[in-house]
This record gives sequence, structure tokens and C-alpha cells, in this order.
Amino acid sequence: MLGVCYYPEHWPRERWAEDAARMRELGLRYVRIGEFAWSRIEPEPERLEWAWLDEAIETLGQAGLKVVLGTPTATPPKWLVDRYPEVLGYDIYGRPRRFGSRRHYTFSSRAYREQARRIVTLLAQRYGQNPYVAGWQTDNEYGCHDTTRSYGPEDLRAFRLWLEERYGQIEVLNEAWGNVFWSMVYRSFDEVELPNQTVTEANPAHWLDFYRFSSDQVVAFNRMQVEILRAHAPGRFILHNFMGYTPDFDHFKLAKDLDIAGWDSYPLGFTDMDVLPCSEEEKRRYARTGHPDMAAFHHDLYRGVKPRWWVVEQQPGPVNWAHHNPSPAPGMVRLWTWEAFAHGAEVVSYFRWRQFPKAQEQFHAGLNRPDFLPDVGFFEVQRLARELAALPPLPPSDPAPVALVFDYEADWVYRIQPQGQGFVYRDLVWRFYQALRRLGLDVDFVPPGASLRAYKLVVVPSLPILREEALAAFQEAPGVLVFGPRTGSKTESLGISPGLPPGPLQALLPIRVTRVESLRPGLWERVEWAGRDWQAGVWREWIESPLLPEARFADGRGALYHHQRYGYLAFWPELDFLQSYLGQLAGQLGLPVHPLPEGLRLRRRGGVVFAFNYSDRPQPVPAPRGARFLLGGPVVAPYDISVFEG
Ligand code: GAL
Repeated sequence: MLGVCYYPEHWPRERWAEDAARMRELGLRYVRIGEFAWSRIEPEPERLEWAWLDEAIETLGQAGLKVVLGTPTATPPKWLVDRYPEVLGYDIYGRPRRFGSRRHYTFSSRAYREQARRIVTLLAQRYGQNPYVAGWQTDNEYGCHDTTRSYGPEDLRAFRLWLEERYGQIEVLNEAWGNVFWSMVYRSFDEVELPNQTVTEANPAHWLDFYRFSSDQVVAFNRMQVEILRAHAPGRFILHNFMGYTPDFDHFKLAKDLDIAGWDSYPLGFTDMDVLPCSEEEKRRYARTGHPDMAAFHHDLYRGVKPRWWVVEQQPGPVNWAHHNPSPAPGMVRLWTWEAFAHGAEVVSYFRWRQFPKAQEQFHAGLNRPDFLPDVGFFEVQRLARELAALPPLPPSDPAPVALVFDYEADWVYRIQPQGQGFVYRDLVWRFYQALRRLGLDVDFVPPGASLRAYKLVVVPSLPILREEALAAFQEAPGVLVFGPRTGSKTESLGISPGLPPGPLQALLPIRVTRVESLRPGLWERVEWAGRDWQAGVWREWIESPLLPEARFADGRGALYHHQRYGYLAFWPELDFLQSYLGQLAGQLGLPVHPLPEGLRLRRRGGVVFAFNYSDRPQPVPAPRGARFLLGGPVVAPYDISVFEG
């Protein structure tokens, strides 16, 4: 199922019907519109102009397209900002953000909540029952352009209320944060400030609560919109388009209110911009394809966020916003789309129908060029739509053999208190993920506390704040579990776990972390494991335990422990180590391990196996002898795919 993002407000009305007809001809079924159109819907306060939108929806719908209507709250118009200047967000230096791009509001503004409530209600009343509007998108890319956290007066007011709600009494907050240190004690919630602009670092507990508060504000803002839409648009789905790795709010929490998790996939821009970090060599090698695990990581993450998920925006050609914006290698738009379906996407929708030759994104390709002729991506979609139509329906995705426990709060904890510059949660998760994917294994992302019963192997790259539900899920998991460094190391308020780390994890593994150290780049510790030396940088721990370690540092201290079904890594692992270690574990557990050559990736959906070639050489696929190929063959060409039953 294919779709496209379209901006009728950018094009003369006379074009709409032809555009719609061409979308259908191309095999597109969904069209997302409206998410930035507030100033066209309400050019002056309370003067509503519906006629154009009525007509646009009617025209698209009549052509056989299903409309996904965006609420326009990512772009409050100028008159609104002038009338209610308090809606503006503030940056970390306490400066208000200006009108002139987008996302210039703070989630905490009371005036903005009211205005958003008003415009969403008006839209929902008008189009909630419209037969052509199949579903809704709330806002656009929450958190984009660093807008989750805001540091203005409205934020401060809301933060104090949030703290009061959480702690009840100021003494409880003082105790939890340890405010006796440096005389940071408060006498009332009204005395608490925001944690930015302190002389040296603010109390990490203060920051963590501010991060939690900021995340909750996004969830509440979205929920407000969802409630309105549910009331006026019964039976229509609601999605939001999340971004490439943007951990500033808890997507698991927010998605509880949605039907579908959408996400916006720009593999080339993400590779160039280190959305997940790539070496210089990888950036060059994969400049025109994207890193082979870049899109897949997010597909798997968002499938974990919500079983129903879409790619709402798929890169169709060069973009405008990365440091460098090359053209995708021929075939990649098709490959990326197939890859999303292989990972379980319900719909892939391209951004955008036509390149708009003005304003910020004039260099951003669309399926069509600004001169109205089809662009390269268009022809790839044409081919793909034909292939899709010819193929039998894909079987549903089974649970993957491996679960990766992913936690937004862990990202916040290590951002606030890395205790060593290289300790970045995203990078650690990314390493575990890549190691598993290079072994040919499929991976499900799972939030802490969710059931792990379906999995033979579970990796927990790190989970600093280990709550009871998560511990219970680990205890009940039948498979083998591997925990990364710093798991269980922190209390709810970011103190050191009582009884020392790994705190509650000691119930599963008798180890105690008595010292931690962080290592500057180039400073390596040697780890001996499986008869070989491996390197450990960034982080290592000193462990006290009655257990015999399975790997040791050069000084004889234990680096890796196993006890019953549980393993613990007392250092920051390199990718090659993880690949060997997890490969060995997976092999022992009888999982389908296929170490893959550079640039080749696999993904299973039921009994169907997809092979994706991100490299510039033909590659044989690990298909069983006599396998039936649904697409492609036993050797997959560069930037091409093969699909077989296996
Ligand atoms: C997304 C955004 C779109 C557009 C696109 C350009 O982040 O949702 O509105 O800006 O990027 O690649």
C-alpha cells in the first residue's frame, strides 16, 4: 500500500484533479495533506476559509484516494504568535524562538493548548465524518528542530506544577534529589527553577525530572488532540509521524494514544548527519544508499512502538537538509520501500508529490519535478507498484528470534550524566543492533517491562533505572538475557543504586560493581575472551563476585559474567566483539545465524525471506537449494532485492 504527501495549497486548483488522477495511475492509495496549512485555513483570527480544503479533499477523494488529514499545529500563523507571544518556545540559553520557520511553540503554553484545541476541534467537526478522510495525523514530527524541551516562563510554571504533583511536598523532592548537597534546598515548589543556565552543572536529578516533564508535556499535548479527533471522527485511524532517532520524549508512552506509529525515513540524510553514527568510511560508502541498518533500525523500533506502523514520509531523491545531499543510487527508492514492507510496514508514503521551487525545501526532490514532469523516484515507484500488485499478499511478521530492550529514559540518563564523553546510549544500542543484523538475525524492539516470553535471546544494551516490572519480565523470560554496562546502576532519582550497581539485577546475577571508569578515545583495555584479545574503550567496571568470569581484562579482573540464563558485560563492547559473542550465543540457542557480507541484509516475514543489497557488487543470497523466488534470483544485483520462500 503506497501513499504520498501532497500540499494542494502550493499548487493552482486547476492542477489538483490531474495530480490526483496521476497519483491513482501510479498506484498510490493514500494522500496526506494539510499539516502545515493553518494560515490558509484561518488567514485571520476566527475567519475560516474552508472552501479550498473542501474542494481539495473532494477532488482527491473522488479520484479514489484516501485522505490522511494533518492537524496544522506544527505551524501556528503569524497573527497567532503576535496575539499570544507566550506560545513561543525558548532555547536552552533562555532566548525566545522567532516566527519564520516552524515548530515555534512550546507544549506548555496554556494559550497554545487553547488555540490548538480550537483549530483541531474545528477541523474535526468539519471533516471527522467526511467519507474521503480515512485517518488523521496529529501535528508533525514532535520534537523536530530540538523543540521538546523549552526554557521559558510558561515551561517553568508548568514544571513546578508537575513537580508538585509528583512529590507532594517539597521536603520529599529535596530528599530525592539530594539537595542538601551544595545547599540547593528549596522551601517551596515556587522556588524551583529550570535546570538551564546554572553556573556549573545542575543537579542531575533536577535535569532528569525536567526531561521527564518535557516528555509528558508532548504526550499530553498529543492526547488532547487525539481526544478531540476520537470524539468527532469515529472509526478513523490516528497516527503521528515520528522521526529518525529523536529520543527526547517517550514514544512508547505517546503511542498508547495512537492507532498507528508513523515515521519519516530519510536514509541518506540520516547517514550523512549521524542520526545513528557512521564512520567517515561508511558515510562515503553508503552516501547514495544509506547505511544498510539505518532504515531497518527505525522500522524495528517503530514496530515495537506500535504493531501497526507506516512510513509516512519516504525519501524520494536528494533532500535539502543534510550536510551533503547526494542523489540516491538507482533503485534505492524501490529498495527502501520493499525493505519497509519486509519489516512489516502497512503503508509507505513518499515525501512529496512534487518539488516546490520556493522557500526552505526548494532543493528537496519529490516524485515529480517542479516543471511538472515525473522525476526519477516516480519511475521507481511505478515499477514497485507493479511488483506489489503481482505478488501474493505478504504473510504477517512473526516475533523475531531476538528482542532488544529499548528505553527512552536510558537515553536521558546518559545524556545528563555520561560520566565519560563516549557513553552515548544511542551508540550502544546501535552497536547491538548492527551486530545482530550482520548475523542475519531479525530483531524486535521491546520496552522495559513488556513480556519477553516469545524470545530465545534478549539483549539489554543498558537499563540504568531498573524498575520492578522490568525485573519481573527478565525473571519470567525463558530465553538467554545479556545485559550491558550500567544496567541497574541508578535509582529513580539518579542516585547510585543502594547496595551498589547493578542494584535490583543482583537478584539475577551475584555481581557488584565497586568502581567504574571512563576512558578517553584511544585508551583501550584488553579483554581476553574465547582465546582471543578484544579491545574495550569508553567504559569499564570493576566487579566483585563469587562467579568465575567468562572473560577477563588484562589486569585479571572479570569483564564478562554468566549466571544461569543471565549474562553481564562489564565494559563498553566493540562491534566485532558483540558480533562474535552474540553469534556464539545465538548459535548455541539454535537461532538462524547467517553472517552476512558487507552491505547485504536479510529480513523474514513469515516464510518469506527478503534480501537487500546495499553494496555496489552482485551478491549471492543465502537461499536454500531449490528455493522459489518471488522476486529477483539467487544473486542479487547492486541496489536490488531478492525475495524467496525459505
Ligand atoms: C520531515 C518533515 C517534512 C519535511 C521533510 C523534508 O522532517 O516532516 O515536513 O520537512 O522532513 O525532508
